[in-house]
Amino acid sequence: MGITESEEWKKLESHKNTLEQENFNLLNAFNTDSERFNRFSIEFEDIFFDYSKNLINSETLKLLTDLARSVNLHDKIEACFSGEKINITEDRAVLHTALRQSSGNPIYVSSENVITKVHKELDKIEEFVESVHEGEFVGSTGKRFKDIVNIGIGGSDLGPSMVTEALGYYSTGHLKAHFVSNVDGTDIMTTLKKLDPETTLFIVSSKTFTTQETMTNAETAKKWLLEKLPYDENNTSMVSNHFIAVSTNVQACVEFGINEDKIFKFWNWVGGRFSLWSAIGISIALIVGMKNFRSLLAGAEAMDNHFRYTPFEKNIPVIMGLLGIWYINFWNAETQAVIPYDHYLSKLPLYLQQLDMESNGKSVNIDSENISYHTAPILWGAAGTNAQHSFFQLIHQSTRLIPIDFISFANSLHSAEHQKILLSNFFAQTEALMRGKDRETVEKELAKSDLSKEEKNKLIPHKIFKGNKPTTSILINKLTPYTLGSLIAMYEHKIFVQGIIWHINSFDQWGVELGKQLAKKILAEIDSKSYIDNHDSSTNGLINKYIDMQL
Ligand code: F6P
Repeated sequence: MGITESEEWKKLESHKNTLEQENFNLLNAFNTDSERFNRFSIEFEDIFFDYSKNLINSETLKLLTDLARSVNLHDKIEACFSGEKINITEDRAVLHTALRQSSGNPIYVSSENVITKVHKELDKIEEFVESVHEGEFVGSTGKRFKDIVNIGIGGSDLGPSMVTEALGYYSTGHLKAHFVSNVDGTDIMTTLKKLDPETTLFIVSSKTFTTQETMTNAETAKKWLLEKLPYDENNTSMVSNHFIAVSTNVQACVEFGINEDKIFKFWNWVGGRFSLWSAIGISIALIVGMKNFRSLLAGAEAMDNHFRYTPFEKNIPVIMGLLGIWYINFWNAETQAVIPYDHYLSKLPLYLQQLDMESNGKSVNIDSENISYHTAPILWGAAGTNAQHSFFQLIHQSTRLIPIDFISFANSLHSAEHQKILLSNFFAQTEALMRGKDRETVEKELAKSDLSKEEKNKLIPHKIFKGNKPTTSILINKLTPYTLGSLIAMYEHKIFVQGIIWHINSFDQWGVELGKQLAKKILAEIDSKSYIDNHDSSTNGLINKYIDMQL
């Protein structure tokens, strides 16, 4: 029996209909229940999670947690943490949580203790970071590194680049980070222009070490380096002094010319989009130092323990996941916005897009059957308050239902004066979205204007805000490596919860393969420089136009 036929699902459907028939209104819900805020908020360490401004009541929470129990969520969490091969289409364990486990308690995958490997690799990263910071490992001409360039894409780029930016305040000041991901030559060329080859260290980050974009950019960087640096007979010290790699494919890294001791490993039980906690995070460690990197891991580990051991009703990622299910499957919400009210977190929505949509953008369940219900939301967002002046109009007054996560920090890293203004906007938006503005209020506002009655009547509907828009507020004491680690892990686990309820495999990404295969085929055709006629007429026409247009 599919999840949508289950008793728990059906009860939620009829509960949603009841709420709708009763015109469930958030403001009324607050007015009639003085305990609503306390009931629907959770405090975990420095994180305050307020979900009281959502379209729910106590019955909703009960029915949603019943749904979670009906799919044995607790056992599924344990299976994941203990290294069972829950990524069934790739026959792999899913153990990004092991990357931040500080205790030596063993976890076995194919009878190997992964924790020993994780700790060993972390020590190796630490040693390397120190050797760069101390000026022991230097460029081929003996100069200290000033710039690092992470070459990677998807999970081998988004996590490190988001976190490096988010923790910019904690930079040790030794190095400046650059991230090159796009195969569009503009990305690498404009980056190289800013760099001095003698003081640049390239980090080729790729789980597979075969990704077209990454390998193309890495080869271009290598060529640039060899052209720019003083000639060395074998080119050995030039490549090996200026390139390190992070990969599961050691052989390919060696073939690229990277010294084996400068290859940092991770393992196939770490999904690309969950890999920032592994050596893929080496650029983070180089920028903020190992102490801060370990603190990032510790924050994530704290969230892992909260997720693993807290009853569903007080479990932040479980509640987040269930709220998402509630809106996507019962209220037909198509999207989920994430608005960080912190400029350092500007890249968080981009990072979460991969995390959520690559994980749960599926239409086949783990029994290999097509499913009829929606899965991952279309995730989007931008930093507040900038977002208020671009797309918030649609959130406030369009016909769409858009659940939003608002994230902010009580204490600024820079200016308490600005923070007050920032946070007043953070609070005001969720209140405005809930409260709206009714006809009576608009009429009062217009009472003193010079407009005629007819003009006023025309204008009034435009100024009405229906309100009753759901939001969740995540207020954190301060942006630190630790709290950031917790925040990211919170979203990872939210996605896990949803994947379990939707009965899908959140850990493969077959959907990205087809385009990659076709691009390879078309590249070979373009290289042949003759007109193409073996595709549909649009694709043929476009490729042939491109051939004609070539200067
Ligand atoms: O395009 C999908 C993907 O496989 C992502 O899942 C992954 O993070 C990215 O490509 C990069 O892969 P790799 O680290 O192997 O270069």
